[in-house]
Amino acid sequence: MALSAPHREIAALSSIPTDDVPSAIQATEGGNEVRLIDLFVPFDRNVSDKWEQYLAIYDAELRRFVAAGKPLRLLEIGVQNGGSLQIWSRYLPPGSTITGIDIDPACAHLSLGAGIRILNGDASDSAALERLLGDERFDIIVDDGSHRSDHIIASFEACFPRLAAGGIYVVEDVHCSYFASFGGGFRKPGAAMEYFKALTDALNVDYFEADAKEADAQDLAHLYMAGREIARITFYDSIIVIEKLESSKTRPYRRLITGNERPVADLAHHISHHMPVPQLYNLALSPTAMRAFEAQMCEMLAAQREVIEVQRDELEAQRVVIDAQRDELATQLALAEAEKNTAEIYAQNVDELQRGIESLRVEHQAYVTERDAAFRKAEQYQSSLLETQAALH
Ligand SMILES: C[S@@+](CC[C@H](N)C(=O)[O-])C[C@H]1O[C@@H](n2cnc3c(N)ncnc32)[C@H](O)[C@@H]1O
Repeated sequence: MALSAPHREIAALSSIPTDDVPSAIQATEGGNEVRLIDLFVPFDRNVSDKWEQYLAIYDAELRRFVAAGKPLRLLEIGVQNGGSLQIWSRYLPPGSTITGIDIDPACAHLSLGAGIRILNGDASDSAALERLLGDERFDIIVDDGSHRSDHIIASFEACFPRLAAGGIYVVEDVHCSYFASFGGGFRKPGAAMEYFKALTDALNVDYFEADAKEADAQDLAHLYMAGREIARITFYDSIIVIEKLESSKTRPYRRLITGNERPVADLAHHISHHMPVPQLYNLALSPTAMRAFEAQMCEMLAAQREVIEVQRDELEAQRVVIDAQRDELATQLALAEAEKNTAEIYAQNVDELQRGIESLRVEHQAYVTERDAAFRKAEQYQSSLLETQAALH
């Protein structure tokens, strides 16, 4: 029987081509014993839905983890039917633990197989994560949650600290960052893409100049903190991967110089005459370069020392001025403090005086009332006396 047009389309969809991965990703593919697409297409358990390019991206991104063969800890935000968790448990090395977190309590009732744990909670809520996970860390974190820009950002900020050193954080369906219905928009402030694009500045915080100080202080502090932890941020079609450094970056990277021949550009001259002093601290010379540059570098160091000494004298003079200003301010502060205390005592005295006047007023009023009563009594007595005298006459 001939299939109708919609049925023909569905039949075509039912055979996902496993050898037709996007060429940009194919270049990085290969070498994995198992390809995710080979697990995904024949998969016959709970439903999962992924865009085709994701599978090859995951192969490329996870190759080093899978090849090492050691058990991994994966956290996926967004469980739904649980299909992706089941696929992860087949893809990752034996002994790996797969944790799914979903805000929908219905997910907590799923039973997905050994090594798969489901938690009920909001992945963008650090306090909830703390209650659910304690200090647990993960080698791989996948955000396949609501795909709303504000949730993607909040989940990243809540979950990235839980990523183990050298681990990767994957954000799926980043195309939703362009959808108004997901709180996004093209180059819209607050859209997830804009957040991660801005985060790429964290990779170069050590090279910021004075103009960066004009940026929002909180934004800058965030970049400096992220710059110590992030190794790379990779943007694919609809996927962003953030890799954590193997160890936190505690100092800027150094510029290494080797060799001793300078037929075209005199690097030693450039360094000694044009390189700003702070950059010299990040310079490391190989023994060959050290020997070749030694004489010029010594001259430069002597010159720099003189500059530094002048600057130090200037700073010392400024320090003396600042100390004097600080002492003056301290004296003024002490005077103001004393005046404040006197004013407080005066205010207390005024209060007491007012209370005294009030009680005298009350006493006086009582006396007047008593006196008036006595007068009235005396008048009554006098008139009754007069009446008695008149009666006696
Ligand atoms: C796209 S589905 C997940 C699909 C699943 N990863 C798969 O591939 O089979 C998204 C899920 O994210 C959950 N979700 C939405 N916001 C969340 C949040 N803030 N924290 C945890 N889960 C969330 C939803 O309840 C929904 O079940």
